[in-house]
Amino acid sequence: SFDTLALQPADPLLKIIGAFRRDTRTDKIDLGVGVFRDEDGNTPVMRAVKLAEEKLLREQQSKSYLGPEGDIGFVERLADKVLGNAVPVERRHGLQTPGGTGALRLAAELLAKAGVRRIWVAAPSWANHAPVFLAAGIEPRFVECFNIAAQHLDLAHFLEALDGATPGDAVLLHGCCHNPMGIDPGPLGWQAITEVVVRRGLLPLVDLAYQGLGEGFCEDSLGTRILLAAAPFGLLAYSCDKNFGLYRERVGALWVTAPDAEQGAIAHSNLLSLARANWSMPPDHGAAVVRVILEDAELTRIWREELDMVRERLAGLRRALASEGRIGKVDLTQIARGKGMFATLPLSRTQIDWLRDEHAIYLAGSGRINIAGFTLSTIARFCDALRALDRA
Ligand code: LMR
Repeated sequence: SFDTLALQPADPLLKIIGAFRRDTRTDKIDLGVGVFRDEDGNTPVMRAVKLAEEKLLREQQSKSYLGPEGDIGFVERLADKVLGNAVPVERRHGLQTPGGTGALRLAAELLAKAGVRRIWVAAPSWANHAPVFLAAGIEPRFVECFNIAAQHLDLAHFLEALDGATPGDAVLLHGCCHNPMGIDPGPLGWQAITEVVVRRGLLPLVDLAYQGLGEGFCEDSLGTRILLAAAPFGLLAYSCDKNFGLYRERVGALWVTAPDAEQGAIAHSNLLSLARANWSMPPDHGAAVVRVILEDAELTRIWREELDMVRERLAGLRRALASEGRIGKVDLTQIARGKGMFATLPLSRTQIDWLRDEHAIYLAGSGRINIAGFTLSTIARFCDALRALDRA
């Protein structure tokens, strides 16, 4: 029977989707889950995606199985774009996964199977990182590195913690557009991380879920390239949710990097057998769409233009928020320096509940805001609510 099971609370972040939908106030603002929204509040299907879907509908001849590696054309073309020449083809071995979360879970299972016990993580991190690692038997070691009030990353503190890690431990890095802080280490920071990772014999796992939403598509994988080029072994978990707008299609990939083809093939064979025991084979459609886009120069051009618009909209909203200055304890000026979808504000749970109850403004319980949830006009309303909060 299931008598021994206890009722589990709904995921606090995903719960916001339903709560927001049920709220009947017309001026409600959703700053919860990380999805892109345009100035009308919609999350449109990208034009390049629609065109690729039309092509698939016309030309796809079979829906027969592809195998646990999924669409290998998707995996290889994406790797060329993401890693370029930084990691030679014989050093990287990949497979398609159900979303970035599937990639992270599979990476964690490979680490566990290889005898890795711990993963070092700068905190705060994406709320689902700890559950994913714990479910695979890997202990997350959080190092408090971000000062939320000052919107600052204390990288030296993280490097110091890594210096004390046991050789063979894993370390998690956000490839770009840190979730939930929006603060990245920068090229010099990546070099410093790489130096300690290599010197201490640590195993890096890069979570790259927002490529193209920060500084530019190529710029956003610079840190990943620096690190994976230098570290003998590594893992890269990738999500196409945000940069192709494919969220519910669950399109992701995982690559293992190894010093030579033989060791890479062994790790890869383990990933394939772990995938087989988990989901057997990943769902096809979204990955096929990405492959069709990447195989076609014109579709790639359209997609990159759309991605540039997403990035520019986020940067514009960041500038507009920053121009509101400091409101009580919340210093919005630093938000212009941040990258990607998120920032985290120094707000208490009571204040977050108050914003929801009194002003129909929904944000994550951690104080994280999805910048794309704003429009230029709702920024003013949000700042009025912060001022009212300050007076309350
Ligand atoms: C987020 O952090 O909001 C997104 O990555 C969605 C998710 O799965 O949590």
